[in-house]
Amino acid sequence: MREPTVQLPGQWSTLAAQTDSTFYFIYWLSVLMFVGIIGAMLYFVVKYKRVPGVKAEPTGHNNLLEIGWTVAPAFLLVVLFHRGFQGYINSLVSPADSMEVRVRARKWAWDFEYPNGGHSNELHVPLNRPVRLIISSEDVLHAVFIPAFRVKRDAVPGAYGTLWFQATQLGRTELFCAEYCGAAETGTPGENPNGLLSNWAGHYSMMAQVIIENQPEYDRYVETLLRRPDRFHTDAEWGADLFVRNQCNTCHSLNGAASTGPTFQNLFGRVEHFQDGSSLTVDDNYIRESILTPMARVVRGYNPVMPSFRGTLREQQINALLQYIRTVH
Ligand code: CUA
Repeated sequence: MREPTVQLPGQWSTLAAQTDSTFYFIYWLSVLMFVGIIGAMLYFVVKYKRVPGVKAEPTGHNNLLEIGWTVAPAFLLVVLFHRGFQGYINSLVSPADSMEVRVRARKWAWDFEYPNGGHSNELHVPLNRPVRLIISSEDVLHAVFIPAFRVKRDAVPGAYGTLWFQATQLGRTELFCAEYCGAAETGTPGENPNGLLSNWAGHYSMMAQVIIENQPEYDRYVETLLRRPDRFHTDAEWGADLFVRNQCNTCHSLNGAASTGPTFQNLFGRVEHFQDGSSLTVDDNYIRESILTPMARVVRGYNPVMPSFRGTLREQQINALLQYIRTVH
């Protein structure tokens, strides 16, 4: 993890150097303009100070000066436009051999889908390979922002956005949502002993890790997204890992404690009462429905804030979660 710094983050992509040089060009140009304009103003304030008894005379016209202060800024603006547009086009047009990763935004999480069909909530990318992100949103405006790569693009509902990058450094960095996409109070206020903020979810929490690794590690990672990884001996063990990895644990406790969502303790066989007045005994089908279509039946006393995991969790993973939930007593 990098130290907090007041400078720009490290240049971790092939696009970063150009973006930074344009940024610093504008930065120093602004410093120069500021010092020049304020300096000249102060000089004139002193030099042309009003003197009692002396009447100011108009100085007349200076063609050369007027042409100069018109043409010079116009020239500067063209240079700035050229540099900015070049960088924008470079970040928009990806190399033809780019690997494609689909990015789906929703309140308030990211889902990444790899070419092999695997999904995860952290973005793994291979080192030194062009990666094109195809960005969409399931609800409202969000924005993909990876500062270390110097890339940012809106996630617009009903449209695809793309951007690309080529990572030049192994390691871990952050992806942020850069569009205010709201917040909601979740659960029942006062129920959570950890204070007010723990009852809120929203834009500020919509982040994801970006992990840049060598091609073999990347290949192994995306492969594990499709099947039970070797390190787990049973589906229940895998389910326990998925439970944390998909952040189910932020809303569902294992010890009976009330949270944003109902506890998973002794969930199977429990009789749940729903907001529409109906009730049922919890079984595989009900939990599966709650994962894929959470709004179908909302348990009484809870807010309808559970996101759907349709398209995120594969059939084997849902099964593993069911096996795991069975073991929580
Ligand atoms: Cu999503 Cu802000």
